[in-house]
Amino acid sequence: MSATTKFLKSIQEHRETKKQEKFSGVLEDYLGLLETNPLICSLAHKRLYDTIMGYGVTQMAESDSRWDKLFNGETVKIYDYFKDEFFGMERSLQKVMRFLHSAAMKGEESRQVLLLLGPVGAGKSALVEHIKKALEQGESVYVLGGCPINEEPLHLIPRSLREDFEELYNIKIEGDLCPVCRHRLMTEFDGEYTKFPVTQTTMSIRGRRGIGVVPPMDPNTQDTSLLIGSEDISKLDLYPEDDPRVLSLNGAFNVGNRGIVEFVEVFKNEIEFLHTMITATQEKNVPSPGKQAMIYFDGVILAHCNEAEWNKFKSEHTNEAILDRIVRVNVPYTLEYEQEVRIYKKLVDRSDFNYHIAPHTLEVAAMFAVLSRLKASNKADPLTKMKIYNGEQIIEKGLVRKIDIKDLREEVEDEGMTGISTRFVMKSIDAALADSEKNMITPISIRDSLIKQVKEQVTNSDDRNIFLSFLQKTLHDEYLSILEKEITKAFVSAYEEQAESLFNNYLDHAEAYVNNTKVKDRVTSEEMEPDEKFLTSIEEQIGIKGSAKNNFRADISSYMFAKLRRKEIIDWKSYAPLREAIENKLVASVRDISRIVTKSKSRDTKQQRKYSIMVERLIEDYGYNEDSAEEIIKFASNNLWRDS
Ligand SMILES: Nc1ncnc2c1ncn2[C@@H]1O[C@H](COP(=O)(O)OP(=O)(O)OP(=O)(O)O)[C@@H](O)[C@H]1O
Ligand SMILES: [Mg+2]
Repeated sequence: MSATTKFLKSIQEHRETKKQEKFSGVLEDYLGLLETNPLICSLAHKRLYDTIMGYGVTQMAESDSRWDKLFNGETVKIYDYFKDEFFGMERSLQKVMRFLHSAAMKGEESRQVLLLLGPVGAGKSALVEHIKKALEQGESVYVLGGCPINEEPLHLIPRSLREDFEELYNIKIEGDLCPVCRHRLMTEFDGEYTKFPVTQTTMSIRGRRGIGVVPPMDPNTQDTSLLIGSEDISKLDLYPEDDPRVLSLNGAFNVGNRGIVEFVEVFKNEIEFLHTMITATQEKNVPSPGKQAMIYFDGVILAHCNEAEWNKFKSEHTNEAILDRIVRVNVPYTLEYEQEVRIYKKLVDRSDFNYHIAPHTLEVAAMFAVLSRLKASNKADPLTKMKIYNGEQIIEKGLVRKIDIKDLREEVEDEGMTGISTRFVMKSIDAALADSEKNMITPISIRDSLIKQVKEQVTNSDDRNIFLSFLQKTLHDEYLSILEKEITKAFVSAYEEQAESLFNNYLDHAEAYVNNTKVKDRVTSEEMEPDEKFLTSIEEQIGIKGSAKNNFRADISSYMFAKLRRKEIIDWKSYAPLREAIENKLVASVRDISRIVTKSKSRDTKQQRKYSIMVERLIEDYGYNEDSAEEIIKFASNNLWRDS
C-alpha cells in the first residue's frame, strides 16, 4: 500500500470513530447518561484534575536516589502526565496539583486564580501549554447544542425543580442559562426545555473551544471585548437593542467556559482590565456585553508572570482585591544540574539539527546555569553547594562532609528565581554549533560560547564578573578533574573491573584489620596478614593519615555490613569516600604515562599504540567521536599537565 492509500484509510477510520462518538440527544438522554456516570457533569477544575490524575500518579520510590538525598524523605508525588516533560520541578507541580485538587473538591481554590510566578524561561508557558493539552486529550464534554459558551445542559432545569433533582441525583446544579440559550429556549422551543438539543464537544486550543487565552495587551488597545465578547454591530440593525442575538460571545471567558482561561504575563495589563477576573472567580459570573444579565462562568483561571511584574503589582494598594483571589505557585529554575541536563536533552532532541555532542558538554553548561542561580552560602562554596543540591556526597579528609541540604536551603530565601535561564544556555549551544567547523559541541566549545554570551548579554557588571569567574575558573578546574578521570578510564584497560577488584581487596583487608583476623586469598584460600601498605596506598588518596585510618576502616566495614544485611548490592561505587579514593588511585596509576603519551609530539611505536588504543576506547566506550576525542585530548595536554 502506498503512503497515500494508507493515509486515506486513516482518514476514513478517523472520520468513522468521530461519527460514532458524538452524542446527540435531548435533556432526557443526558439525564440517563448522568445516572450511570455522574462525572460527566463535573465542573472545570474537577474535570481537569481527574484528567491529569487519570494518567497515573505514584510516590517517588524510596529506591530513587533523589528521594532520600534531596527530599529528606518527605512525600513526593510523581505525576505521570508531567514526568517526561518537566524535570526537577516536582515541588511546583505538587503545588499546582494540590491547588487543582482542592478546587476540584469545591474548596476556596475553586474561586481563585492560579498564578505561576517564576523567572524567564523557567517553564511557566510550557507548563500551562501542557495543562491545556490535557483538556484537549481529555474526554469530550456535554453541552447545549449551539450554545456559544458550551454550557452545561443541566442549566436547562428550572430553579423550581432543582431541589428535587439534587435529591434524586445527589448532584448540585450551579449556574443558569446564558442569555443566548435562554432566548432560543423561549423563541425556538416555546420554553419546553426538554426539547433543547444536547450534544458533545471536544476542547481545542486552536479551535478556541474550552481554552481561552488572554495575551498581554497594550494599554491603548485593551478592550474588555477580548475577555467577555461584544455586541455585533452589524446585527444591531436587525434586532432590538436588548436582543441576545446581537451578542458575540467570543471573549476569553466565553471561550474558556468549562475549561481554562489563560492570562499570559498577566500583570502587564492595566488593572481595570483585570477586574473581570474578580467577578469570574469570586462570583463565578462574568459581565455580558450589552445590557444582558451576568453570565455564569465555570473554568480554571491560570495566569503567569515574572517576579518584577509581580512585585510591582503587589506593591500597589489598589490591587488588594485581586491579590486576595490569587494562589501563587513559584516556578523556580531547577537547582539540580542533572535535571537541568535533562531539559537541554529534551530541547536538543526536539530540534532538527543533527550534530555530535561530546560527553559532559551539557553537564558543564548545566553546572554553569545552576551556579549562576545559587545564592551564596556561609556553609559551603558555590561548587560544593551545587553538588550537594545535586544529591552528591562531598568528601573531605576521608569523610562524607556533613552538610545537610536542608540547612543550605533554609539559609536563603527564594533561590532559583534568578540567574541564567534555560533559554540562555540553549542559545549558547546554538551559537557554539554555528561556530563549529566539525558539526559538534564539546565542553570546551560550550564554555567558550557561554563566556561570549555572558560578555555580550549580561549587563549587570557584578553578575557578569561572578558568572565569568564560574566559567573561567570554577568550571575550568572542575572540567579538568572530570577530564582526567575520563582519560584515565580510557587508559586503564577494563577500568570497571580494576576498580571493582581494588574495592574487593580493600574490603577484605580492612575487615580483617578491624576484626583482627587474617585475610583469605580469594583464589588460593591462603591466609595472610592484612596488607597495611596496600590499605594505606588507597587511603592516602583522600588524605587519610595516621590514626584516622582506624575510624575509616571501621566505618567502611560496618557500612558495607549493614548494606549486605539489608540485601542491598554493594559495589565499588557504594561508599562515596572509597569510590573517590579508588578513582584517584587509578588516576595516579596512569598519570605519568597519560601525560607522556598525550603530550608528546613524536611518539615512539609503543606510545603510538597506547595512544591509539586510548582514542579508540574514548570513541567505542565513552561516546566521543574522532573529532571530539582529539579536541579533549589536546585540551588535556595543554591544561592538565601544564606544570609538569
Ligand atoms: N524544569 C523544566 N523541565 C522541562 N523543560 C523546561 C523546564 N524549564 C524550562 N523548560 C523548557 O525551557 C523552555 C522555555 O520555557 P518557557 O517558555 O515555558 O518559560 P517561561 O517560564 O514561560 O518564560 P518567560 O517568562 O520568558 O515567558 C521551554 O521549552 C520549556 O519546555
Ligand atoms: Mg512564557
